[in-house]
Amino acid sequence: MEGRFKQHRGRLHHALHRLYGHGAGFDGWFAQLCDDMADRFAARSPELRALDRSRLAQPGWFTSPQSLAYSAYVDKFAGTLRGVEDQIPYLKSLGTTYLHLLPFLRAREGPNGGENDGGFAIASFDEVQPALGTMQDLRSLTAALRRDGISLCTDFILNHVADDHIWALAAKRGQGEQGQDSYRDYFHLFDRVQDTEKFANHLGQIFPETAPGNFTFVDDLQAWAWTTFYPYQWDLNYSNPRVFADIALALLHLANQGVEIFRLDSAAFLWKREGTNCMNQPECHLILQALRCVVDIVAPGVLLKAEAIVPVNELPPYFGAGEALGAQCHLAYNSSLMTASWLSLAEQDADMVCRVMQATPRLPPGCAWLTYVRCHDDIGWNVLRPELQDEPDGGDVRLARAANFFAGKTPGSYATGASFQARPDRQVHGTNGMTAALVGISSAKTSQQLAHAFARLKLMYGLAMSAGGTPLIYMGDELAQGNDHRPACAWPLGADGRQLHRPDFLKSAAVVPASNAATALVVLKNLIAVRKSLPDMAADCATTLLPTNTTRVLAFRRGERLTVVANFSDDSIPLFQAVPGVFENGSIFHDRIGYTRVDPSFILAPWQMVWLMPTSACNNQADPMETP
Ligand code: GLC
Repeated sequence: MEGRFKQHRGRLHHALHRLYGHGAGFDGWFAQLCDDMADRFAARSPELRALDRSRLAQPGWFTSPQSLAYSAYVDKFAGTLRGVEDQIPYLKSLGTTYLHLLPFLRAREGPNGGENDGGFAIASFDEVQPALGTMQDLRSLTAALRRDGISLCTDFILNHVADDHIWALAAKRGQGEQGQDSYRDYFHLFDRVQDTEKFANHLGQIFPETAPGNFTFVDDLQAWAWTTFYPYQWDLNYSNPRVFADIALALLHLANQGVEIFRLDSAAFLWKREGTNCMNQPECHLILQALRCVVDIVAPGVLLKAEAIVPVNELPPYFGAGEALGAQCHLAYNSSLMTASWLSLAEQDADMVCRVMQATPRLPPGCAWLTYVRCHDDIGWNVLRPELQDEPDGGDVRLARAANFFAGKTPGSYATGASFQARPDRQVHGTNGMTAALVGISSAKTSQQLAHAFARLKLMYGLAMSAGGTPLIYMGDELAQGNDHRPACAWPLGADGRQLHRPDFLKSAAVVPASNAATALVVLKNLIAVRKSLPDMAADCATTLLPTNTTRVLAFRRGERLTVVANFSDDSIPLFQAVPGVFENGSIFHDRIGYTRVDPSFILAPWQMVWLMPTSACNNQADPMETP
């Protein structure tokens, strides 16, 4: 660690000095932090230190076409952490290299059946939720995954803690109220409601229906706490250096259990500033830069992933900018691309995907997007506002139309999702539902409807797998699992509606041949296998949009030779007319995911996606899978 400490100490000091240097005692605090980091390094196992060294020797290891992420709930997927270990062969059969397990640390024990925002209200960073296992199980799982080439990713919920976390309990007790040790300073507390008002007017609403507002009066504190999400999730006060230090050390402790990737939850909200929406503040980036230095020094095999659900034009700083270019998060969700793909599907027009791709910059080396179709959250429509700013109504009508379409409210809609946190006809917010429900697999009545629905599944996942980045499969999508309509999804746990797309995982072993589940598995495995065989799919290969004659079709090139074309409509469209440039050099292609020859007479079927390689480049290359 000595060498790395020398290498990165200056950067760490610089970022932290800008955040905390004005306070008395900064030097002593910084020295203590460095000592604590050294202790964490001392506790790091030889195996993990070896991993660090191998990752340092291969920077950008996660940007290759081999990378594939899978996201699952421990209990719904496999019961417990031990159960997840038993599922490793299944994960490997999919080609998974990175497993994101949704929160498994001890969560809030609250009233009303333990409301804890799906585990995102953390009561302890150092304990596993008892029903899911123990820290020993976690170490065993990370080691077993690592043996099979899979990195474990955990949610690291650093913006807030539950109101029964020890810091919150200490604040409630008023512990050390006057002195250094006051835990009230771990939170943003206001004595008078008037003091919150100067912020409130500028803030957005995450759960406007079930948790309106951003402040909660807490009797035990006799103060208003800043609660961006649910009232029981108290935002941490990062202007207090002790919060930064405790959070950094908690992260390192988890890294020492073998966690390799940290999904930095709600990363955009870490710093509050009057007169702003308190997102993406410069200090928020300094905090993330400092955290990156901490892992670069102590556990350089670890990756940081920003969960900043903000428009794509606000995302580049999460990878670092200026002197810190490439020195912040390694990965970030491209939620605009995800949301745009759903809007384009509803509109049967690829224009929005094109706009987002145009606004998506090429990333610094060693960084990658996380590309996805669905996750455990809703599809949040508002990230597309910048792309819609030229619309007279700022995009309200288009977004509302899409939301209604996916809620199945539009005549002829094949989708069976549900609107989220949106009062009927009043505001656009989000949409819930599993992919199979949103693309129409769940509702298909005829074989033609089913074929079209599967084409849409292939189109959506094909885009996530080809647009540039590490693609993520959300648990159950590979088996075309539909929505969860059980009564258990009702209040209190399902009040925010996202339970709709959090069903128990259909055990893959129970998949019936020729069922929708079996078909979906073939479709996704085929995309994955082909992607892995194509070097141009690496996250750092350039993505270049190609001009088309119709906005119903999207076309882009990856690297030098791979051309991706997608028909977002239910029309059959001659490829030559839609994208004449494709055939410019007289090339004939092979569609790597459809196993057909593609020449100028080729017709794109409704919702068809093709991955074209010149036939000359395909000679002697066996297809990795049988035709589905
Ligand atoms: C993230 C999570 C979401 C959670 C929120 C608050 O956005 O993905 O599920 O509700 O953070 O922790």
